[in-house]
Amino acid sequence: MNSIIHLTSKNCSLIIKVERTPEILHWGPRISQIDPDILLSTERPISQARLDVDVPLSLCPELGSGHFNAPGLEGHRDSYDWAPVFDVFDQDLSAQSVIFKLQDHVAQLQLEIEIKIDFESDVLQKRITVINTGKTNYSLTKLSSTLPVPNHANELMSFHGRWSREFQTHRQSFAHGGFMQENRRGRTSHENFPGLFVGSDNFNEQCGQVWGFHLGWSGNHQLRADVKSDGRRFVQAGELLLAGEAILAESESYSTPWLYATYSTAGLNGISEHFHHFVRNNIISFPVDKPRPVHLNTWEGIYFDHDPAYIMKMADEAAVMGVERFIIDDGWFIGRHGERAALGDWYLDEQKYPNGLEPVISHVNDLGMEFGLWVEPEMISQDSLLYKAHPDWVLELQGYHQPSGRWQYVLDLQNPDCFNYLFERLNDLLTTYNISYLKWDMNRELVQPGHQGKPAVNGQTNALYALLDKLLAAHDKVEIESCSSGGGRIDFEILKRTHRFWASDCNDALERQAIQRGMSYFFPPEVMGSHIGPDESHTTRRMHHINMRGMTALGGHMGVELDPVKVPKEERQAFAKYIALHKQYRHLLHSGRSFRVDTADKRQNIYGVHNDIEILITVCQLTMPDYALPSPLRISCIDPSALYQVKLVETPTTSFQLMKQRPKWLDKTLTLSGENLKEIGLTLPILDPESALMLHLKKL
Ligand code: GLA
Repeated sequence: MNSIIHLTSKNCSLIIKVERTPEILHWGPRISQIDPDILLSTERPISQARLDVDVPLSLCPELGSGHFNAPGLEGHRDSYDWAPVFDVFDQDLSAQSVIFKLQDHVAQLQLEIEIKIDFESDVLQKRITVINTGKTNYSLTKLSSTLPVPNHANELMSFHGRWSREFQTHRQSFAHGGFMQENRRGRTSHENFPGLFVGSDNFNEQCGQVWGFHLGWSGNHQLRADVKSDGRRFVQAGELLLAGEAILAESESYSTPWLYATYSTAGLNGISEHFHHFVRNNIISFPVDKPRPVHLNTWEGIYFDHDPAYIMKMADEAAVMGVERFIIDDGWFIGRHGERAALGDWYLDEQKYPNGLEPVISHVNDLGMEFGLWVEPEMISQDSLLYKAHPDWVLELQGYHQPSGRWQYVLDLQNPDCFNYLFERLNDLLTTYNISYLKWDMNRELVQPGHQGKPAVNGQTNALYALLDKLLAAHDKVEIESCSSGGGRIDFEILKRTHRFWASDCNDALERQAIQRGMSYFFPPEVMGSHIGPDESHTTRRMHHINMRGMTALGGHMGVELDPVKVPKEERQAFAKYIALHKQYRHLLHSGRSFRVDTADKRQNIYGVHNDIEILITVCQLTMPDYALPSPLRISCIDPSALYQVKLVETPTTSFQLMKQRPKWLDKTLTLSGENLKEIGLTLPILDPESALMLHLKKL
């Protein structure tokens, strides 16, 4: 066994010291060569009034060896074997990965700790498996992945949110104590996105050392960042196991979800570049390599009011606007006239669609668009045929009252009959109709999720993955959107089997600016569903001009979510304009490197995407500008040695209220050097609140 392991990626090094137990010595900038004296030079002193031995902050910190912060593993065997201490006995090393095997002969447990580092993206993955080698059951209460961060990682940025307000960020100092987030909602959740960043003082979008973390898991989780009293600090993430959820019989094992982590010296932009690169190459797989089609989703247009002739008219208008995929949302299946009934009955409502769904689909296809359909397979309404036949399929605990959520209950996917029924229904829909896309929704949390009386979030989550996997194996050209009342199920593990997220039910462009910015730290624009909604937002009642709505939607995987038949012609033409603009730059948006700009005026959101030739930048004035004049736009990702053609491609069309004289360049195409654009910057016009402009720069 090597006593020092050095895994490297393009810009990073991970150095692990292997003594009794493996411990990370360095995870950060790439080191060209390890000094022969590294073990001596990194040996820690022993402090007064403490244990007489050094306590490693190991890959799975142990309460049993005197780690008094959160241990990596907790559990017991009928009240015994509750403080295990592991010795490494094997190591399987390859160029980009290592697997350590550890054992505790007393507690009769083995651990397998896997670490991989992706060379191109600098993203590290970690997962731990525990195996019960004893003869009696081991009750596992916790198994988490731990990664240390250096003592100068002094600040923390975490995420919070709720329905229609996902991915809100929160900064705090990380000097003593720590941070903990526990998610018990049974889905990834709006409230507790499993991701966080720690970094050097004042790290921001463009500067600072940052370590970024994301747990790829769609169930319960625990995420923490702790500062030990000796100054060492670490981030830890794993599944939050309910009492009794992981009882391991002899030879049984439990594996954590993957923890994804990365490091950058280029602030949060560096981190998101790493995550996007990794997601593009390792997580997402589109069945066909083609531009992401522009959507029209019917939900905010017609809700439950389905009339095939009218829907076909909507499709006509959609096609004229340049839409490429037309999706019928909730309300198409038997008895679904409102949100209180019919979930589970995945058969076409023939009263609404007397001639079937085929004429609508053919019409959509004849207009050159793909067809998509909404489903919410994990759910059941009490008022449904399915509930009448199988009330026992509900995920609940016998003897207790199960509260409904959005008037519905969750199905027990670990029940094979239920799983097979759902597969049969979905398979039948995808076989019968020319459906190329499913919007897969999930609209409530799990309360007392019991399978045969036992806690079942883990089982339910894995069964959901299995259902998606089975369906995709049978229909490998179908794409799936992960929606959960908007962004309630957004994570890397669900993205392995889906192709897009509905980022939020909130189509209010102002709210969306913040939601999409938060989401952009982890997810590239091509998986971020973002739609132009009606002028009056259905979630906030705020009114937005089409400029703000169009500009906000076109930076992601764009769509439209309204009834195009009802809107005035000029508005339809404006939708077409923004769709065209999106298509014009889609190649760049969906493959380039995303960035956000640190602004002096915090009421501005400036972001963009670039490749080696082009840069596309959106400047959005969220609320009233802080200053009478905006700061010049300095573009840090630009090539200082090149010349650029700079053009305004979109500006608010209404008259400017706050500006009486426009900078003259707005009506010209400029030629500017990268150096000037980086250091001196470009003067921006004064934008009114809730408006946006877009610039395109092309290397000459
Ligand atoms: C959820 C989704 C919406 C829509 C409705 C339909 O709220 O997030 O986009 O599909 O369900 O009932």
